[in-house]
Amino acid sequence: MKTKLSPSMLSIDFGKVAEQLKLVEDAGTQYIHLDVMDGIFVPNISFGIPVIKSIRKHSNMVFDAHLMIVEPEKYVEEFRKAGADIINFHVEATKYPAEVIQQIKATGAKAGITINPRTPVEVVYPFLKDVDMVLVMTVEPGFGGQKFMAQHVSKIRQLAEWKKELGLEFDIEVDGGVTLDNVREVLDAGANVIVAGSAVFGKEDIAGAAKGFLDIFKE
Ligand code: DX5
Ligand code: ZN
Repeated sequence: MKTKLSPSMLSIDFGKVAEQLKLVEDAGTQYIHLDVMDGIFVPNISFGIPVIKSIRKHSNMVFDAHLMIVEPEKYVEEFRKAGADIINFHVEATKYPAEVIQQIKATGAKAGITINPRTPVEVVYPFLKDVDMVLVMTVEPGFGGQKFMAQHVSKIRQLAEWKKELGLEFDIEVDGGVTLDNVREVLDAGANVIVAGSAVFGKEDIAGAAKGFLDIFKE
């Protein structure tokens, strides 16, 4: 499975969105990670549907939406219409994870299920055969630039084992505190979609930072 970089827009300079998106896209980045926060599921508010719709015109990258919102079932269609290609929702944020997966797939988007650091990985086991992606949080969701919680790498390893055992094809995405220094650890564990916010858009040389990750993926 080819490894993908998904730089998180949470760390972009919102006054230079088109320009900075082009920098990572021209560097060879395949995905862009869109962190949507509602101030209820997480203690922060970021951006939502109109922003995604407007940046869609400036990028051909795969739009990897990460919904940190309660009751995601209320907004799935709107995020798809705005241009999301992958829709990740939190298993902790809804009473109906199985239905949300089907709802996302019915829009034609890929469905991802996400777990917080405090959520055991077993919680997603029943959904593995239905999802396109599992997103493992390695920080408490809500803010960029936090420290990587290495104890959750074992969840990635477990997911990779289940994937093999069950003969499934879902992507394993990792999000939170990933840098050039610890990315090898998550790749070795089995992650194949790598989110990096401050380690890409937080850097002076954004294109160089993206290339730094993409070069490691080629090793
Ligand atoms: C945190 C977000 C992350 C965040 C990652 O709630 O889900 O995507 O932007 O930022 P870094 O890579 O700086 O930890
Ligand atoms: Zn995220």
